[in-house]
Amino acid sequence: MSLVNAKEMLVKATEEKYAVGAFNITNLIQMEAVVEAAVNKKAPLIIQTSVTPSKFLGPRVLAIVYKTLAESAPIPICLHLDHCTDVEYCKECADAGYTNIMIDASKQAFQENIKQTKEVCDYCHSIGGISVEGELGTVSGIEDQVKVAEDEAALCDPEQALKFVDQTGIDIFAPAIGTAHGVYKTKNPKLDFDRLKEISDLINGDEIKVPLVIHGGTGLQPDVSKKLVSLGGSKFNVSTDLKHALIDATHDYISSHRDEYNPGKIDIAVRDAIINRVYYWINILGCEGKA
Ligand code: 13P
Repeated sequence: MSLVNAKEMLVKATEEKYAVGAFNITNLIQMEAVVEAAVNKKAPLIIQTSVTPSKFLGPRVLAIVYKTLAESAPIPICLHLDHCTDVEYCKECADAGYTNIMIDASKQAFQENIKQTKEVCDYCHSIGGISVEGELGTVSGIEDQVKVAEDEAALCDPEQALKFVDQTGIDIFAPAIGTAHGVYKTKNPKLDFDRLKEISDLINGDEIKVPLVIHGGTGLQPDVSKKLVSLGGSKFNVSTDLKHALIDATHDYISSHRDEYNPGKIDIAVRDAIINRVYYWINILGCEGKA
């Protein structure tokens, strides 16, 4: 149906109180699997790549495969560059055909974060049709090249959030509210729901201007995930879960077919495992049938 940027689909999601799954993929089988799952559930979709797989596969290759899949899919799909700390690489991916770019300057001082984020926004907006995600505060854990120790993680200050949004011109906003990348050490991580609500009210109280992003989806319990969505999170990032699905499915298939040398069958096992995980998240996020 359509190649869309994230903002278009997320304003609708915020208004209707569901979230769009933003799934990090590391190869093309995963990309096809997340599309197949979303098509089957008639759900809007954000495909994400971190910087390492983006560089490994090449942004133009990824963008062309995305375009081919999205143009023939009956759902809106966005291709998003995740947690990129390099302004120039953000611009390269925008030129290549990504429709949403995340500049992650959250480890920088506030003014420098604003400066870098604004530079990416100005560039992407000048090309047209590309939206930009920025982050304030830091999400602990490891996401590709971005590593934040637990004691380094800082939650997003609501007043600063308002300034950040105004001064950068970002389209979607990731406030750090206590979620973490990777597997949580505890079943009940300490999340600051009130902070999310305050930020949501401050930024989107009158009308939905800048949809909010929840990072660190893997390991959040269904009721917690739903609560984050009800408080204004409309882009919900899941990465580690799909990496586990890929590796576990590969391991299980090879372990039980040790004498078989048919890579296509491993691909099918991986695809099916990914599809199942995407179904799981679509169900929790409430985006089935929203395409
Ligand atoms: P998880 O790896 O914890 O799912 O986090 C994903 C994410 O936030 C990507 O930006």
